[in-house]
Amino acid sequence: MSNPMIHPNVTDALRVKVAEKTTAAIDRLRRAAAEFQPIGFASSMGAEDMLLTDLIQRHDINIEIFTLDTGRLPAETYDLMEKAEKHYGAHPVTWFPRHEAVEEYVRKHGINAFYDSVELRKACCGMRKVEPLKRALAGKKAWITGMRAQQSTTRADLPLREFDESYGIEKFNPLSDWTEREVWVYIQTEGVPYNALHEQFFPSIGCQPCTRAISPGEDIRAGRWWWENPDSKECGLHVKGD
Ligand code: ADX
Ligand code: SF4
Repeated sequence: MSNPMIHPNVTDALRVKVAEKTTAAIDRLRRAAAEFQPIGFASSMGAEDMLLTDLIQRHDINIEIFTLDTGRLPAETYDLMEKAEKHYGAHPVTWFPRHEAVEEYVRKHGINAFYDSVELRKACCGMRKVEPLKRALAGKKAWITGMRAQQSTTRADLPLREFDESYGIEKFNPLSDWTEREVWVYIQTEGVPYNALHEQFFPSIGCQPCTRAISPGEDIRAGRWWWENPDSKECGLHVKGD
């Protein structure tokens, strides 16, 4: 069965809305890049991030695109990285975890210890994502994410722009006001490459062992760390300053 969310019916009204939001998003990216240099965009290769990648590449905006390769990503995400490299003729700056930290964690707790407790899950995200993000952002004046307010309860009040106290730099969420449907209208209309897992009802994709498909009616992020309470389901990349 094909996934209707990622192949939406495009009405004229929706097309106009997406065109308006696209213009606004390009403007937000351009302004962020004009105000802050160097500036980096964190791409997980998810649908929103592929949309932003397309805007940055197509409009030649001076923003470094980087990705955090946790070492536990699904094969489909690596396939997309390769496809996107061919499509845009460029690849993101890739950051890996420190191998000493991974070795120590796995020797002490086991290869899939993230299932054992929220603490061990957060420690895994800490060494595989958060610490590499710190290195990726070192020297940057600002960073950009593909987060949307509608993605989860923890993101409901997501601003377009905020000061990120965790890293001491400005943070932009230029797709904060986009809906999932609008993201897919852009992707399908513009022929943007996307992860094959989205076809199999994976709206939100992270590491392979911590991501599953969702059923109709389930929350978009229900497939992320599905064994945990919704309020603990952040990986630590996005910590609120308050
Ligand atoms: S998270 O819980 O993993 O942080 P999500 O997958 O919803 O959340 O991603 C939200 C945003 O965080 C993405 O749009 C992207 O900007 C950033 N991000 C998440 N994972 C990565 C990654 N592996 N590499 C780079 N950026 C990432
Ligand atoms: Fe580890 Fe899972 Fe977090 Fe990936 S999502 S870094 S495997 S706990």
